[in-house]
Amino acid sequence: MKLAGKVAVVTGAGQGIGFAIAQAMADQGAQVVIADQRGAEEAAVRLSATGQQALGLRVDVTNEDDCARMASATLERFGRIDILVTNAAIFSSLTPKPFEEISVAEWRSVMDVNTLGVFLSVRACLSALRKSGDGRIITLSSGVAFKGNPLYLHYVASKGAVVSMTRSLARELGADGIRVNSIAPGFTLSEGVAANPALVAGARGPSLVGRVLARDMFPGDIVGAACFLAGPDAAFITGQTLVVDGGAYFH
Ligand SMILES: NC(=O)c1ccc[n+]([C@@H]2O[C@H](COP(=O)([O-])OP(=O)(O)OC[C@H]3O[C@@H](n4cnc5c(N)ncnc54)[C@H](O)[C@@H]3O)[C@@H](O)[C@H]2O)c1
Repeated sequence: MKLAGKVAVVTGAGQGIGFAIAQAMADQGAQVVIADQRGAEEAAVRLSATGQQALGLRVDVTNEDDCARMASATLERFGRIDILVTNAAIFSSLTPKPFEEISVAEWRSVMDVNTLGVFLSVRACLSALRKSGDGRIITLSSGVAFKGNPLYLHYVASKGAVVSMTRSLARELGADGIRVNSIAPGFTLSEGVAANPALVAGARGPSLVGRVLARDMFPGDIVGAACFLAGPDAAFITGQTLVVDGGAYFH
């Protein structure tokens, strides 16, 4: 119960990796807020049914007012915010395509959710994280930022930005006792990914071949890193990106 007494906000936790992280943090004793534009309330009900303390909020992370409401509703219900996981992103719905076929509208929507959404989520929770005295921000980047995977230029660019934002935020927020770290997963068979056959067909084979630990990766493979970075054992770690990918990229 290393997160007992902590309050964690996890964006994009209606399903997939975000939900697995929220569930694991609740298992470690945290009260959790599931913020997602789809399925947040249902996901919170699923957690609450197993006796966990969870609040579901319908939030679009690209909307400033929604992010402000995410912070204020969390404070109203649980009184504090200690952990923010910026997991919401556009990924599993993407169709692989050569970069010259990516429209400006698609580029903007990916960058909006994956980078502006991180900025707005962090900004909205900042004053509560400062008050925590032990604030943690965990961003979700991706191994693609290091490997430069083809056919997802907007997504790869957005996750490279998340690595850089993590480093810069760590420097800006260290004096407030807020540790900022990132998890860079490898290709993970989340529910969303599994529902996109084109994505699975293109990425699963090369991912398996490229891994030292040659098996499929699931959301449950990431939660240990998230709980570690949120907990007391990572108190002196900040600005880092932890690659969790079965040994595909040695960071
Ligand atoms: N699955 C992978 O292979 C993989 C690999 C590396 C990194 N990641 C990262 O891990 C995170 C989760 O991945 P996943 O596979 O579970 O993704 P997913 O696409 O299945 O889930 C993302 C969640 O974000 C939510 N979301 C999207 N736009 C939103 C918005 N504007 N506001 C609020 N919520 C929004 C979706 O509703 C969804 O619940 C993402 O940041 C992704 O980029 C995933």
